[in-house]
Amino acid sequence: MLEGKRILLIIGGGIAAFKSLDLIRRLREQGASVTPVLTRAAEEFVTPLSTSALAATKVYRDLFDLTDEAEMGHIELSRAADLVVVAPATADLMGKMANGLANDLASTILMATDKRVLIAPAMNVRMWLHPANQRNLATLEKDGVLRVGPDEGDMACGEYGPGRMAEPMAIVEAVGDALRDGPLSGRHVLVTSGPTHEPIDPVRYIANRSSGAQGTAIARALAALGADVTFVTGPADVPPPGGVTVVRVKTAQEMLDAVNAALPADAAVFAAAVADWRVVSASGSKIKKDGTGKLPKLEFAENPDILATVSAMQNGRPALVVGFAAETDDVKANAAAKLKRKGCDWILANDVSPATGIMGGSENAVTLITAKGAEDWPRMSKDQVANRLAAAIAGALAT
Ligand code: CTP
Repeated sequence: MLEGKRILLIIGGGIAAFKSLDLIRRLREQGASVTPVLTRAAEEFVTPLSTSALAATKVYRDLFDLTDEAEMGHIELSRAADLVVVAPATADLMGKMANGLANDLASTILMATDKRVLIAPAMNVRMWLHPANQRNLATLEKDGVLRVGPDEGDMACGEYGPGRMAEPMAIVEAVGDALRDGPLSGRHVLVTSGPTHEPIDPVRYIANRSSGAQGTAIARALAALGADVTFVTGPADVPPPGGVTVVRVKTAQEMLDAVNAALPADAAVFAAAVADWRVVSASGSKIKKDGTGKLPKLEFAENPDILATVSAMQNGRPALVVGFAAETDDVKANAAAKLKRKGCDWILANDVSPATGIMGGSENAVTLITAKGAEDWPRMSKDQVANRLAAAIAGALAT
């Protein structure tokens, strides 16, 4: 599965480093060659000798080893790989990556590389959940760094929760996904997802009911086919997928601005549940009850229609523009009318009546409407809808 692939494996200093030795074996079993880099802290957990023996190659250890620099400098090392894997990715390494620090060989390679980077975080649960680490994680996601794990479970430190490094075979699988040359490699696809929040005042907002699950699944499926995905997301319940460039927004206007900034793209999928209206002159301070029972009056303005705006572009319109139609009545007729009105190429219609359980649920039942007609897809998981849509997009862009 990984025949001929070159993996640069950076081993950070954590108790999970011992699992990285098994990872080396597993990667090599799949046909990959592994060049290990040990941080100084990693050497407290695994020895260069055992690492080198398992990798059957030299281990790189320190930035200022002049012999190493003469043989293969850190820049060359960072480029002579198909993928850079960081396992375990400690809180320290993640912090360095997120902030562009480069004070040892591992962090210098991570700054200098032009290859995709996959991290397998491992740390104590409190460290994983610490706001500083979550901030770093968000930055890394935004930078398009891929991630596998961490898993949840008993930890070496005696606590329980998320923070255990993913198992070596799960990392091997993620390496396979990252290296797969899919039908969408070289293609840029934009995906909008989640709700938008339109402020009333600093503590209240108007929103649509949307978990972001379908948009997230679509972005993940497109990335798995090799697409370079820009994922513009409102405040969703589900975390964004790894391996995509994440742009977080709150309002419809911010979403439109982010979409414009991300274009051009080969295809765009508008899965976001954008609030149709915003409150005119949202209050800068909290609106208080004045005790008289007088109710506040909200004045609304219509938000820009992002899908319609992009569909109507004269210059730089994506070759394929896909919208969703969330309907509760006359689903197909309304969706077909929406396709025309918005000027997109395809529309995925779904019935979001409460009885269907689709909004916030894990399944979806959609009808794909194109110029050729309507195609009913059976009710399936949102992941399966995403895979089928991604495959259809790959097919359309290939013609
Ligand atoms: N959409 C958008 N910008 C908006 C509103 C909707 O990009 N301001 C996109 C959605 O992401 C979706 C499609 O338009 O792909 C249809 O969204 P939907 O909520 O079904 O339609 P509306 O335009 O809101 O129409 P209506 O409320 O009349 O059903």
